Amino acid sequence: LITPVILSGGSGTRLWPLSRSKKPKQLLALTGERTMLQMTAARCIDRARFGAPIIVTNALHATEIAAQLAEEKPAAIMLEPAGRNTAPAIALAALESAPATPLLVMPSDHVIEDCPAFLAAIEKAMPLVEAGWLVTFGITPDKPETGYGYIRRGESVAPGVHKVDAFIEKPNLARAQAYLAEGSYSWNGGIFLFRADAYLAALERFEPEMLAAVRASLDAAAREGAMVIPAAEAFLSSRSESIDYAVMEKAERVAVVPVDMGWSDVGSWDALHLLGVPDDNANVLQGDVVAIDTRGCMIRSEGPVVTAVGIENLIVVATRDAVMILPRGASQEVKKIVEALKARG
Ligand code: GDD
Ligand code: MG
Repeated sequence: LITPVILSGGSGTRLWPLSRSKKPKQLLALTGERTMLQMTAARCIDRARFGAPIIVTNALHATEIAAQLAEEKPAAIMLEPAGRNTAPAIALAALESAPATPLLVMPSDHVIEDCPAFLAAIEKAMPLVEAGWLVTFGITPDKPETGYGYIRRGESVAPGVHKVDAFIEKPNLARAQAYLAEGSYSWNGGIFLFRADAYLAALERFEPEMLAAVRASLDAAAREGAMVIPAAEAFLSSRSESIDYAVMEKAERVAVVPVDMGWSDVGSWDALHLLGVPDDNANVLQGDVVAIDTRGCMIRSEGPVVTAVGIENLIVVATRDAVMILPRGASQEVKKIVEALKARG
């Protein structure tokens, strides 16, 4: 059985005012009735193929996660005292698993519209995974996004699977533009599949101190039911680094499965607007909204009735205690709002 490993560490500043530190993106229902976390778990619900999931999360969210995944009965909910990025988080899950277990590592906050395509891509990868490769899933790029990892596809190593010639985490704009023009690059979807022992061997080689810190934290962990609470001091002594920089850029037997699965990392209000169902005037209206002579807007209310007349191409989000308005295309600027509010105290 494959063990799904769900990473829930995001602090969710880019979807302010909906996402807050107490309720980041993955714990919200953004695209339907279920939360992003619940939809992530639901992709791997076939118990003939997948075991119960392991969740790795900030301790702040333990109760909320246990409640949201009550039906899935996680094998473990592993609580970080504070985030040390994805490489140590994945190490916790790998050390918690039997060595030969294939781990499907997934962010808790992405949309995958075509789940059958995702499951088929997993099956394509499995023979290489069993042989000890680290596998990732490749998304066809359509813009020179600098917030993603880029993968240069090499020779085919199995049907639908390519060796990774180069893995470049977050290139600058000039390089991203060159990769897009060149045509043999995929985005890294941030989803990984490998045996627990293959990941731990890579970590032993490239980040031995990180592995030692995480191992010590787990050796001294407290356990209460499914909750696993690694010893804080040992865990926090680990360097903070992503799997992408710590392992994927350096490892050798890395493969990519290109897959067209309606993937989005829902990184902004603009992305959420594109994922929504538009009305006849190209508006995406969610919650109690009255819009007259309004076009191309995303308007979402979590409570108050929001009314608009004669506006175009705006994003408006209202919660109980905050209202945000910005032009479409500017939603990466939300982080400036969050910073300004922090500075204000
Ligand atoms: N438990 C835990 N602890 N989870 C974490 C931590 C942590 O310290 N840090 C990040 N995560 C979770 C996030 O919640 C998210 O679901 C996932 O790990 C990826 O982290 P991000 O911070 O969102 O990474 P990124 O977007 O900068 O880059 C990654 O994803 C891109 C695709 O969305 C990389 O893998 C890129 O190469 C990739 O293109
Ligand atoms: Mg991300």
